[in-house]
Amino acid sequence: MEQATAYAEVSLGALSHNLEAARRKSGHGKVIPVVKANAYGHGAVAVARHLAAQGVPKLGVAFTREAVELRESGITIPILIFFDRDSTDAWFDYNLTPVVFDMKTAKRISSEASRRNRQINVHIKVDTGMGRVGLDMTRARDEIARMATLRGIRLEGLMSHFAEADLQDKDFAEYQLKSFSTLVRNLKHRGLRFDCCHMANSAAVLTMPGACFTMVRPGIMLYGYGCRERESLQPVMSIKSRIVFLKKVPAGTSISYSRTFITKRKSVIATIPAGYADGFDRRLSNQGHVLINGKRAPVAGRVCMDTVMVDVTDVPGVNYESEVVILGRQGQEQVTADELAERTGTIPYEVLTSVGQRISRIYRTSPP
Ligand SMILES: Cc1ncc(COP(=O)(O)O)c(C=O)c1O
Repeated sequence: MEQATAYAEVSLGALSHNLEAARRKSGHGKVIPVVKANAYGHGAVAVARHLAAQGVPKLGVAFTREAVELRESGITIPILIFFDRDSTDAWFDYNLTPVVFDMKTAKRISSEASRRNRQINVHIKVDTGMGRVGLDMTRARDEIARMATLRGIRLEGLMSHFAEADLQDKDFAEYQLKSFSTLVRNLKHRGLRFDCCHMANSAAVLTMPGACFTMVRPGIMLYGYGCRERESLQPVMSIKSRIVFLKKVPAGTSISYSRTFITKRKSVIATIPAGYADGFDRRLSNQGHVLINGKRAPVAGRVCMDTVMVDVTDVPGVNYESEVVILGRQGQEQVTADELAERTGTIPYEVLTSVGQRISRIYRTSPP
């Protein structure tokens, strides 16, 4: 018999549904799915393969090694690399598309292109207010014009990134949008046109139709989360497990490290084989719930590295066959990444990307 552990069910049906939502919202349907950080924890190769089969034009990752993993898994569509300035050889060897945000890197790519007698597509990133990477807006126009004269580099795309498009108050997002639009217009006047201009993350796709330009770059919405306007999206990941130990204990029994939970009555305690090393956040100690038999079972005591104990005294019919839902729906109840994020003082992005390596991802074509 296989050991009871925790596993993630990833619904490719839900992923397709959310991709369709992004396509619809964008107006033009050209979506560059962001699959960095192991596709926000969902498994980069399987997710990228599925999205490529749905006909997306490109994919986006943070680092070159993520793109190389996709290439080595047989994914052939263009892949943008957001945050790297050093991996010139790999960009040529694996036919990748670097995002360029400084002149020095542009020149280095150009020299390498000449040496290899090749041409490479790049996207230029400008900083309209995110304050992370990007050409300074005061110099962007001139620098881009100079980059356009470099041999072997084709300026395929121009991009920027929103800092707070998820807020109701869109003042700063509108300011960024205006500054990007002005740059696009000015460059056009100088005869510099790009095949694709993109700045919209999920929040902008969902709430700022004017920010969708010719492509959009959503991440979190594809996985079913994002901002308040996400009603029509479906969460893609569920995490399930079973019980590894079930016991009846008298009142006054202490549970887990530091004895922060003492039973107040005769209780039934179940031990679940998933802990903080698997992404079950330790801040859920005495805070979170799992779902068993359609009911919420509260976490009892400290979350351990590999296990968590839950109080199932009020959940009838619990046994070793009972399914345990850590994230997702069971009957009428649901634990969302939003709920876990709220309980642990973070954002759903961190909840999803923290799902550990020991959790095997199982891909389903039906909705969760
Ligand atoms: C450059 C870039 N584009 C797009 C995204 C997607 O953002 P979101 O997941 O909020 O849609 C990210 C994610 O942080 C990013 O870094």
